[in-house]
Amino acid sequence: MTTHRRLVETLKRKGAPPQWQDAVAAVDRALFIPGVIEEGDFADDPEGWLRAVYSDAPVVTQVNDGKHTPEGAFRLFTSSSSMPSIMLEMLDLLDVREGQRVLEIGTGTGYNAAWLCHRLGDADVTTVELDEAVLSVAAENLRRAGFKPTAVLGDGRDGHRRGAPYDRVICTCTVREVPRAWPEQCPDGRIVTPWGSSFFSGSYATLDVVNGTARGGLSGSPAFMWDRGQRGGAGRIADLYHEAEGRRSRTDIAPQNVIQDDPAFFTGLSVTDAWYRWCEADDGSGEATLWLLADDRTSWATVEYVPGARAYEVEQYGPRALWDDVREAFLRWHTLGKPERSRFGLSVDGAGQRVWLDKPSRLIGR
Ligand SMILES: C[S@@+](CC[C@H](N)C(=O)[O-])C[C@H]1O[C@@H](n2cnc3c(N)ncnc32)[C@H](O)[C@@H]1O
Repeated sequence: MTTHRRLVETLKRKGAPPQWQDAVAAVDRALFIPGVIEEGDFADDPEGWLRAVYSDAPVVTQVNDGKHTPEGAFRLFTSSSSMPSIMLEMLDLLDVREGQRVLEIGTGTGYNAAWLCHRLGDADVTTVELDEAVLSVAAENLRRAGFKPTAVLGDGRDGHRRGAPYDRVICTCTVREVPRAWPEQCPDGRIVTPWGSSFFSGSYATLDVVNGTARGGLSGSPAFMWDRGQRGGAGRIADLYHEAEGRRSRTDIAPQNVIQDDPAFFTGLSVTDAWYRWCEADDGSGEATLWLLADDRTSWATVEYVPGARAYEVEQYGPRALWDDVREAFLRWHTLGKPERSRFGLSVDGAGQRVWLDKPSRLIGR
């Protein structure tokens, strides 16, 4: 069964917060999904399209910022209708109440803005989108669904001063730095955003704002697109690898240990501009390669995991010694007593963003 009712039931079963269930039931996702999506052109497959629309999964609606992408080229996902249960998870963190004013960053298809409008009313919802074409389609989707929030073309990092103050800010793309404009425009309320750096981007920051100072913790495992102005590296390893010999060494740190959630999160606080891929051999040997790749494409490193080995081959290429940087962060995390991500917090005020461990005075990074 591929119906709106089915999606509503799925989300209920997955624990949709009661205060959002009416909005979920009232807004049909089909009004927000185009006929051509990343999964294909569904002109001749209406059932396939309905399956995509009504499954609890993201639907990618734009790649490479809408630019022409030649056959075989890497496709960076740049706009989507997010996974509905993840949208609800974020809205739950936002803890929004009737009568409050909400600023959404990243209109995308407009589906999330529609839920907000259904619950709060058009007048209390402002949504900002950086991509003009995306915004104009979203505005039309919203109109068809019967909603008319304030939809603004602009960089969401600037918020939307004219509509301030807001009680809540929800951002649906990942940021490295929570912009100061958000607590300025939401001086007593709450901000929820996917937050992180290239190495580890999978945290929600949930920040309570009091007198313009935002402070809060990190949780969850969101996987959102980057804020367009703060993107990290991406691509296929084959396109990023320089066919040249790197500097060789060995390490006694098993490479998979550095990419577990807590150490990877901590590493992401200092190694902000490099990312990793874990590639398992497909020959049943259990061997794997940890790839480290600099955002600027100048440097890479590999660590070769072999089951049962005591030391692992390392190769580092380019001006950065990426494994050395990751190793240093991993060892520092051990020195600090292997703190879990839940012990870290974030503060944002006029002086910018700071990351701390346990209490705001114990600074770890920016
Ligand atoms: C995951 S999609 C948003 C999903 C959307 N909320 C929905 O319900 O369909 C992320 C969107 O953020 C937009 N975006 C990225 N950086 C932005 C920025 N700095 N300001 C405003 N929008 C931005 C992208 O163009 C994209 O449309």
